[in-house]
Amino acid sequence: MKKVFVILSIAMLLASFAFGAGTIKIGVAFPMTGNIAAFGEMTLQGAKIAQALYPDVLGKKIELIVADNRSDKTEAANIVSRLIDYNHVVAIIGEIASSHSLAGGSIAEKAHVPMLSPASTNPLVTQGKHYVFRACFVDPFQGHVAAVFAYKNLKARTAVVLTDVVQDYSVGLSNFFIKDFVAMGGKVYREFYQSGDQDFSAQLTDALSKHPDVLYVPGYYPEIALMARQARQLGYTGPFLAGDGAEAPQLIKIGGDAVNGVYYTSHFNSAHPFTSIGKKFVAKYEATYKTSPSALAALGFDSYLLLRDAIKRANSTDLEKIAEALRTTKNFEGATGYITIDKYGNTIKSAVVNEVKNGKFTYVTTINP
Ligand code: PHE
Repeated sequence: MKKVFVILSIAMLLASFAFGAGTIKIGVAFPMTGNIAAFGEMTLQGAKIAQALYPDVLGKKIELIVADNRSDKTEAANIVSRLIDYNHVVAIIGEIASSHSLAGGSIAEKAHVPMLSPASTNPLVTQGKHYVFRACFVDPFQGHVAAVFAYKNLKARTAVVLTDVVQDYSVGLSNFFIKDFVAMGGKVYREFYQSGDQDFSAQLTDALSKHPDVLYVPGYYPEIALMARQARQLGYTGPFLAGDGAEAPQLIKIGGDAVNGVYYTSHFNSAHPFTSIGKKFVAKYEATYKTSPSALAALGFDSYLLLRDAIKRANSTDLEKIAEALRTTKNFEGATGYITIDKYGNTIKSAVVNEVKNGKFTYVTTINP
């Protein structure tokens, strides 16, 4: 009898490990180290605020299992495999850079594990996929907003576009911007660089010889910050325009005064939350982290809530049911707006334009789809 009891207890203990002691496991696939580690940190902080406010679903605690893609494309795929095969997550929040979501998304798609990207804006991320979704708008829209802002608000007629050739995000967004800016009557010159580059003097010297009204750099913050410093050293006093990938405290830390006058399209500004849950989010985030939330923090918050809502409506942790519930998300109130996911896995939302002013991310305007 005693023996049976011991065996039973061991079996129950093992089972509780296997099933996460009654938790619902959601994987988080972010860059926590490497070139764009700030993105992972901010998005995770946002998701954790959501978890603190809404810790459970279907009577169970939600457990976030964080995997680090080290800002690397190959790792981006590896961690999705690991979260699925080893951690047995029921869904994944991730990834952030579009190139990472493309790599990780193919793995999630094959395994039929729903994956929700908080922030990947390249259209290819969800294209042809049934299990990959996003909580943000897409780059044809973001590029359009940038082109209109450049032409109308900045009154730019000549732009030099600097493209990070190893980032699908940057390549795509450059093209969408160029298409619309040229259609409005603008003139475009192009320069190219790669994530990790430190010296942009050749590209910038060439760029400035065209006497541009704006430098459009749809890349990520480490390179934008260095580029701004170097352009200022070369005497450029005009505006920069970037995409959502510009926003991280490191842009200002690395860029210093040189990044004043960087405008960028984004998803959110903490001084102008779109919804009442957005206000609640900002208050809780500021109380917790003693700083204001970035767009990525807001998108991380929304992603957690969208998945929790989908699991609730699915009333199950069945992968197919969660995916189906995500696919039928309608008018969900998030911090970044009311979110409807269409049948392609995409979201249609407003964009904001922010400006770095006196070392702060300052709200400029909102542009609706
Ligand atoms: N949109 C970027 C991409 O697709 C990711 C990003 C979003 C980065 C928001 C910062 C803020 O690669």
